[in-house]
Amino acid sequence: MNNEANALAKRDAEVILHPASSITALLDNGPDMIVSANGCYVTDADENQLLDGVAGLWCVNAGYGRTELAQVMKEAAEQLGYYHSFSNASNPWQVQLAEKILQVAPDNMGKVFFGSGGSDANDSLIKIAWHYHTLRGNSEKIKVIARQQAYHGTSISTASLTGLGGFHKDFPLPLDFVLRVECPHYYTRAQDGESEVEFCDRLIAEVKNLIETEGAHTIAAFFAEPIHAAGGIIEPPAGYYPKLKKLLSDNDILLVADEVVCGYGRLGSWFGSTLLDMEADMISTAKGLTSGYFPMSAAMMSDTIWEVLKEGSAKLGAFSHGYTYSGHPIGCAVALANLMLIENESLVERARENGAYLHRRLAERLSEHSKVGEIRGRGLLAGIQLVEDKNECKLPDPAQKWPAKICQHARKNGVIVRPLPSVGTLAISPPLTISTTEIDQLVDTLVNAINFVLGD
Ligand SMILES: Cc1ncc(COP(=O)(O)O)c(C=O)c1O
Repeated sequence: MNNEANALAKRDAEVILHPASSITALLDNGPDMIVSANGCYVTDADENQLLDGVAGLWCVNAGYGRTELAQVMKEAAEQLGYYHSFSNASNPWQVQLAEKILQVAPDNMGKVFFGSGGSDANDSLIKIAWHYHTLRGNSEKIKVIARQQAYHGTSISTASLTGLGGFHKDFPLPLDFVLRVECPHYYTRAQDGESEVEFCDRLIAEVKNLIETEGAHTIAAFFAEPIHAAGGIIEPPAGYYPKLKKLLSDNDILLVADEVVCGYGRLGSWFGSTLLDMEADMISTAKGLTSGYFPMSAAMMSDTIWEVLKEGSAKLGAFSHGYTYSGHPIGCAVALANLMLIENESLVERARENGAYLHRRLAERLSEHSKVGEIRGRGLLAGIQLVEDKNECKLPDPAQKWPAKICQHARKNGVIVRPLPSVGTLAISPPLTISTTEIDQLVDTLVNAINFVLGD
């Protein structure tokens, strides 16, 4: 296994363009080949066991090596393997899965649309928002508001919503249907002497002004991660979402919660939007839906939106949108088993309790550190903001590569943490099954890495 994996690693760069990766680094260093995994640990081609403090890409909520998930995939593959969902075709697994999702989702959610990943879920919801407004006679409602430092995917439309410059550079992006507003991060964006309440009011006033300038009749939706993930683990100030929702409703603009990271327990609640009182009109989910065992997304819409689509169908005919793999039987089987497992093992409650333990340990070890400005997040999602000057909130120069150097050191010592270089932040989002002993290993290794790179 080991020799074979190493031989394959040498051939990787000859045949693969990796997502969100440096080609130069791949040619210099080869790939980071992971060959097996169990629980919260992954094993690389050199047989190093690494505690995965990021759950893959924030997705392996139920942990690795779940034979019960492998088993249901095998059964669905043997029984059906594949059939499409176009032209009202269906399969038993997707019906049961949609029922289960709606059972745990916020009460106003009425219907589910299946796809293959977070980007296509958000892309589908942009189209559903357009469709909804057009069917009500408002076909000019096309623009979508998204925030700086948001991450909503990398397809052409969702990369446009994404508010991280690296995803636009050297592409003709963002497309001009996107309107951008301030990142709701008090620590880095507040003005001198501004209180959190004043900051929140300024954010809402900015959206209000934008709606007035552009015209409410031109704006379809506002996309928001309950807590920004890749943009730095950022939660808006208290009271932000209820005020935002009221403003949007008054202007007939839909609020879409991108729960691709926050959904299915990550924050210690089934959904982040309920925890933060978003009252979203539509919700996108993926990742934790199958704990990453199958590429799958579920986009949800409220009953109100569904009613408009239903009425429109009689007039317009087919809803002309969908994917070959929408409602895939193997994906639906594993997602259903995964949600049952999250429920039966109380992983949402566990994320809340062990998340509190993680945050307590991080605060004990790092809150006094001169280069740590803020420790933030909820449940098993945490961000550590590195700063050059704590008193002045001065963020590190990206050229110094602090997050990458710290993560490399932690990795050499057996723990994977994710660098968010553009925002000088380290991200933690382990499997929801992580134990307190494993949290101790994660925190100790990370603190040692921070001290090694930045001094203590
Ligand atoms: C909040 C959020 N939305 C959307 C996406 C895009 O998901 P995918 O990579 O499955 O297209 C991601 C991916 O990390 C994400 O974090």
